[in-house]
Amino acid sequence: MSLSFLDLPIVLAPMGGASTLELVAAVSNAGGFGILPCAYSTPEQITTQVSQLRRATRRPFGVNLFVESRPSVVDAHDVARAHDRLRAYREELGIVHTPQPAVPPDHYRGQIDAVLKARPDVFTFTFGIPDRDTLTRFRDLGIFTIGTATTVDEAVALADAGVDGLFAQGSEAGAHRGTFLAPVEASLIGTLALVPQVVDATHLPVFAAGGIGDGRAVAAVLALGAVAAAIGTSFLLAAESGIAVAYRNALRSKRSTDTVLTRAFSGRTARGMANRLTQELRDPDDIAPYPFQNAITRDIRTAAGEQGRSDFLSLWAGQAAKLAKEAPAADIVAELMQEAQARAECVTETLLASSSLLGRKNRQYELRKDPIRAIVFRRPST
Ligand SMILES: Cc1cc2nc3c(=O)[nH]c(=O)nc-3n(C[C@H](O)[C@H](O)[C@H](O)COP(=O)(O)O)c2cc1C
Repeated sequence: MSLSFLDLPIVLAPMGGASTLELVAAVSNAGGFGILPCAYSTPEQITTQVSQLRRATRRPFGVNLFVESRPSVVDAHDVARAHDRLRAYREELGIVHTPQPAVPPDHYRGQIDAVLKARPDVFTFTFGIPDRDTLTRFRDLGIFTIGTATTVDEAVALADAGVDGLFAQGSEAGAHRGTFLAPVEASLIGTLALVPQVVDATHLPVFAAGGIGDGRAVAAVLALGAVAAAIGTSFLLAAESGIAVAYRNALRSKRSTDTVLTRAFSGRTARGMANRLTQELRDPDDIAPYPFQNAITRDIRTAAGEQGRSDFLSLWAGQAAKLAKEAPAADIVAELMQEAQARAECVTETLLASSSLLGRKNRQYELRKDPIRAIVFRRPST
């Protein structure tokens, strides 16, 4: 499968609840590659959103889903207890505490069918691997598939399943960990360590994700062998981003440097800015498994957004949040590219200067420029 959908090595990583159609279109129109998050959309909404996006951009874009990962058996008492644990927060927010916990929608199959029908250039997913039949259907339609790996083992499992590319999601990344093999605690590898190992282990195109806050980090991940930088948090303050005002204000504040891993909002581990809910909901017995916790906290998160209260919002952010800039998305893309190019030239000059100091005889590596990978280091063939 070809990477023809990729012009600039900048990808707007999928961001459910944050990316708008306008943001996705703006990044694609600026020469980057926008990905529409559809995990929280119904099949009908996916159909509508993709046709709206096609009206907003003629350039390629991707669509993202969560692979269905609900536990096969769920103890209703666990969910009821987690639901009751939220009663005091509902009272504080002035919303009704329903006797029965909300039930998460089960429309994964319908979502897959809707994406296949919509035929985006790229389909990306996280939380696991779709079954063989599903991946074959995407391949038969010529849709490029990208799975999410947080460890080398996950990358190899995805490669064995036949995906066309990989997000290598380092532990710095904002929001949910894509982890699906080992426990999350054993899958927290930084982007700098993860990307080159995934490149070596799979030989697939790798899209580096996690903590890429500006053009310096874009140049860095290209040097590690990634074909592009997949950036989430640094687009959260874009003019076209859809986050609530209280979330935007938290990102602008000093708090943005204080991110934690939490299961409080969805039942799956995710990185976000610390707040009252991440502090108070830490006991595993108070939290239902994903996606049940996600369903039972939804009314609280919605009310908090409406009331401008950041203490109960899921303030997803990666560890480089402080570097996010407030600007139209097209300007963010342009600045990322300019900064990456300047940094790559600077690195090239430094390394060329040191290699001439070492002398040609001792030079082990040759440096060359590559149209996609800004700089590539190669052993001479002789
Ligand atoms: C607000 C937010 C929402 C996210 N939602 C999704 C999602 O719906 N699907 C997904 O695969 N990844 C999601 N992610 C993870 C990103 O795709 C990506 O891995 C991450 O943002 C990269 O790290 P960074 O935030 O440090 O740039 C989300 C990230 C953020 C910040």
